[in-house]
Amino acid sequence: MNKKIFSGVQPSGNLHIGNYLGAIKNWVELQDKYDSVFCVVDLHAITTPQDPEELRKKTIEVAKIYLAAGIDPEKCAIFIQSHIPEHTELTWILNTIIRMSDLSRMTQFKDKSRAISAKAVHKNSKGEIIEEKVMTGELLGGRTNKNINVGLFDYPALMAADILLYDTEVVPVGEDQLQHIELTRVLAKRFNQKFGETFKIPEAGVVKEGMRIMGLDDPTKKMSKSATSEYNYIGLTDDADTVRNKIKKAVTDSGSEIKYTDDKPALKNLINIYSLLDDKKPEEVVEKYKGKGYADFKNDLAEVIIKFLEPFQEKFNSLSDDEVLGILKKGAEKVRPMAEAKMKEVKEKMGLI
Ligand code: TYM
Repeated sequence: MNKKIFSGVQPSGNLHIGNYLGAIKNWVELQDKYDSVFCVVDLHAITTPQDPEELRKKTIEVAKIYLAAGIDPEKCAIFIQSHIPEHTELTWILNTIIRMSDLSRMTQFKDKSRAISAKAVHKNSKGEIIEEKVMTGELLGGRTNKNINVGLFDYPALMAADILLYDTEVVPVGEDQLQHIELTRVLAKRFNQKFGETFKIPEAGVVKEGMRIMGLDDPTKKMSKSATSEYNYIGLTDDADTVRNKIKKAVTDSGSEIKYTDDKPALKNLINIYSLLDDKKPEEVVEKYKGKGYADFKNDLAEVIIKFLEPFQEKFNSLSDDEVLGILKKGAEKVRPMAEAKMKEVKEKMGLI
C-alpha cells in the first residue's frame, strides 16, 4: 500500500508563489508516489471574518489553483472540507484531549490574534459614546486580544482532525505549519495511549528552499496572503506587467554581487524563488549571474516567474466553475468512506454508542 499524504490551503486572501513553492508544487511531485488527499479548508478560513460571496468564489478558485498547478483528480482526491462533516466531528473529540496550554503556545494563533484589531468604545456617564478607537495589536501592547473567536484558538484541533481522519503519514506544508503538525502528533499519541491504537503518527514534509518564501517588501517576514501591501507577494493570478513591477520594487541587500548567503536575506529569497521555478540549484543561479548586477538578475527573475505563471493561468482560466464543482463532489465521495470508517472506530474506542 502507498503511504498517504494530506494537505490543504485556506480559501482566503490572495494565493501567492509562497503557497505554491512551499506546498502545492511539492504535492504535484508527490502525487505519483503517495495516495494523496488535497482539501480546500473552508472551515479554517471562517476563523477570521469572510464575506460569504467572496468565500464561495475563493473556495472554487483554490480548487482551480490545485488543478492548474498539475494536481490530477484521477490520481488524487480534491474536496471541500465542509463537505465531510467528520472533520468537525473529530475536532470535537480532539477538543476533549487537547489542553488550553497546547493551544496557547501556537505562534500562528498569537500572530493572528494580535493582527486582529479591537474596537475600544468610551462612553460618558450618560452612556453617550465620546470616543471610538480601533485598537491594533500594537495599541493593545502586543497582548492577545480577548475578543478573538474560539474557532481561531481551536484551529489546530481542526487541522489535526483533517490529518488524522485519513491515516495520513506525510503532510507536505510550508514551515509556518510545522508547529501545528507537531501538535497533531502529540494528540494522536495521547489518544492512542488513552483509547488504544487508532491514529497513524504523521510527519511533516517540507522542501528546504521553498518552506519559507519571504515577503518581497520585507525579507524578515514570510510572504503572506493577508499582507497589507501587494508588493509583499507575487499573486498566482498576477499578470506579466504586475510581476515585472513587483520584482523591480522588491527590496535587495546592499552591495551589487549576486550571493546566496544568510547575511543577504532579500537576495537569498529571490534566488530561492528563481531556483525553484527554473529547476536549478541556488549555486547554479549564482554562477549564472557571476559578474552581473542586480538589475540583470531581477529582469530575468521576473521572466522566469512569468514563464511559470502564463501556462498556469491559461489552465486556471480554462476551468469552468461547474467542472470544478463536479471534481470537488467526486473528491468528497472518494474520501467519505475513509472519514466515516475512522470516525466509527474513534467512537467505538471511546465508548460512544
Ligand atoms: P495556508 O492556507 O495559510 O497556506 C497554505 C500552504 O502554503 C504554505 N505557505 C508558505 N510556504 C512557504 N512560504 C510562505 N511564505 C508560505 N505561506 C504559506 C503553508 O505552510 C501551507 O502549507 N493551516 C493551514 C491549512 C490546513 C492544513 C490542514 C494544511 C488546514 N488543515 C491539514 C495541512 C494539513 C494553513 O492555514 O495554510
